[in-house]
Amino acid sequence: MKLKKVAVFASGSGSNFQSIIDENKKAKFCDLVLLIASKQDTYAQVRARENGIDSLVFSKSDYKDSKVMFEKIARELNLREVDFLVLAGYLTILPPEFIQEFEGRIINIHPSLLPKFGGDGFYGLKVHSAVLEANEKKSGCTVHFVSEQVDGGAIIMQSEVDVFDNDTPTSLQERVLKKEHELLPAALKKLCLGKAALIGEKAVIKE
Ligand code: GRF
Repeated sequence: MKLKKVAVFASGSGSNFQSIIDENKKAKFCDLVLLIASKQDTYAQVRARENGIDSLVFSKSDYKDSKVMFEKIARELNLREVDFLVLAGYLTILPPEFIQEFEGRIINIHPSLLPKFGGDGFYGLKVHSAVLEANEKKSGCTVHFVSEQVDGGAIIMQSEVDVFDNDTPTSLQERVLKKEHELLPAALKKLCLGKAALIGEKAVIKE
């Protein structure tokens, strides 16, 4: 079977991007063809360079209308015949037209057990602070298909961690991030091997 082509979108350090690169080196399940960075000089771009993966920067601040920026991104993805898009710590909201064009082919990793602690304003340490404030005993991460509702698309896989009494937002973030690094490549692998798909509004997963 021909390997699926994957583009990763990132805004920062790209440790989740790295987890895909590493897992794909162990047993190749996809062709990592492109990194889309949302600003110049992210560490994610260094990771792309070191691993021979093309990268492009599309920064919202260069465009009056983000719709135009995403039209250009879509052109780049289609030129490269990209099958799947992975949002791995990507902080720009996708416009509805873009989501519709790639429906069922975009996944996102979020550092909470969705639907809890997701949606507008829940990013970075804010997620983990909210989990601690709510006195949750469990947290974790979720990989889901991207829909027009922020963090609201069909869930593909989740992974849990315990929340400890002495946790700080940073310690919880570290524990969750370790799980993200296992979960994201695992979910992407399922997608690329045809073991996960969006059917209607549901994620259908095969073991
Ligand atoms: C991760 O916690 C991810 O869940 C969130 O942003 C963070 C990105 O980390 N969406 P990294 O850039 O992959 O290191």
